Amino acid sequence: MKSTIASILSSPNLHQDYNVYGWVKAFRSNRFIALNDGSTIKNLQCVVDFENFDKSLLDQITIGSAIKIFGVLKESEGKGQSVEIEVSKVEVLGLADTDEVKKTILQPKRHSLEKLREQAHLRVRTNTFGAIMRIRAKLSYAVHDYFNSNGFFYVNTPIITGSDAEGAGEMFKVTNLNLKDTPKTTSGDINFKEDFFGKETNLTVSGQLEAETYALGLGNVYTFGPTFRAENSNTSRHLAEFWMIEPEMAFCDLDGNMDLAEDFIKHVLSYITEHCQDDLEFLEQRLLQEEKSKPEKDRSPMPLREKLDFVINNQFKRVSYTEAIDILKNSKPNKKKKFDYVIEEWGADLQSEHERFLVEKHFKCPVILFDYPAKIKAFYMRLNDDQKTVRAMDILFPGIGEIVGGSQREERFDVLKSKMEELNVDQDELWWYLETRKFGTCVHSGFGLGFERLVLFATGMGNIRDVIPYPRTPQNADF
Ligand code: 4AD
Ligand code: MG
Repeated sequence: MKSTIASILSSPNLHQDYNVYGWVKAFRSNRFIALNDGSTIKNLQCVVDFENFDKSLLDQITIGSAIKIFGVLKESEGKGQSVEIEVSKVEVLGLADTDEVKKTILQPKRHSLEKLREQAHLRVRTNTFGAIMRIRAKLSYAVHDYFNSNGFFYVNTPIITGSDAEGAGEMFKVTNLNLKDTPKTTSGDINFKEDFFGKETNLTVSGQLEAETYALGLGNVYTFGPTFRAENSNTSRHLAEFWMIEPEMAFCDLDGNMDLAEDFIKHVLSYITEHCQDDLEFLEQRLLQEEKSKPEKDRSPMPLREKLDFVINNQFKRVSYTEAIDILKNSKPNKKKKFDYVIEEWGADLQSEHERFLVEKHFKCPVILFDYPAKIKAFYMRLNDDQKTVRAMDILFPGIGEIVGGSQREERFDVLKSKMEELNVDQDELWWYLETRKFGTCVHSGFGLGFERLVLFATGMGNIRDVIPYPRTPQNADF
């Protein structure tokens, strides 16, 4: 039977025979193979009695090669591991040429993250990316686990849509160029020379509007899928294709929404602190090394595990937009004593420097900002009695800025309709959304959490391009 290295190391059966597959990480003294199969950051030490092996076979045990090993598990006398495999048979499955390997990031030495991005097809074989991608997968499991055990149904909203859920015009158009020359189909009058769908369509920017319609039938639902934004933001926090988690709850107001968001984030982070200890430990050590090379003022005050525990164990601070503006107006954020973008008056949108000041310098904990001016938020948010603010919330995280955006939704037909008119939201396109307010409308709320921003926080990485297998950013869809 084939065993993973993770299972062997977590419950070792001494004196048992094992079949192990993996890639060679190191081969010392023609005797010690460090084998890794991706199931854990730890390598399995495999000891070859080289005198009893064919020399030409040993020559093929090169770094990066895929091999199969058969042998018995023994207690190890060496330092660094408690068990090892005494190898009786090696099979080379896929040879990696040593000279070729030297030109790649598989060569065991420290490579820059930029270099790793250029070889995105190989980077998951490095310790750093192995750790990040295992944590990403566990976080994804924890998301489903949380919602499933709290009575939410997973709904799959469409990727191709006719609407612009955020009303920000940041859509990628869907075209059917390769069908342009197709003649009339045999199955009716559809002419593919025209648009495939008979209208303009785009890749979704958010599954929220469709999720709302499902919450108004299933109660509590969530989506977790790819979303697309054609915003020209070349930053370390933006992707053109990212995964979003969007719960939506019927009979729930903004307070309930904030409670859920906080509880949810704490649950998924605490799940990985329990289930990804080796990977977190590795990333923490890596970050500590990196910190040492930075000027003191840029160093992070908290090691990774401490940062995660802090978020898990402390209440998020809830602050209204109006209170936040007062704080910002009266703050001297840095040596210059002012922000790059100075907030002159109530109603201005916060920039990331303001958000990070509130979280990192003023409150020193995650912050939930709520009740934003209606003018700077989307059309679907519920208008407050003051007629100028909406029941919106953003969750701001240290080192990240905005990680969640959500709101209580406008459930009143007339108010929603006039808001759509005011903001020029296409009512012919969104007739179905508006119609849900006619048949048993109710208070409902939800939010969107950018999954990669969560993975960024959980792994302590600094660039969103390094927490998704194949990042899509302006001028970059190379892999
Ligand atoms: O604040 P946003 O735009 O909210 C919505 O899309 C709502 N429809 C969500 C809802 O209420 N169901 O986006 C939500 C989150 C942001 O807080 C951020 O974490 C992430 O999605 N996000 C991005 N992540 C990576 N790259 C981008 N370009 C992102 N844009 C938004
Ligand atoms: Mg937002």
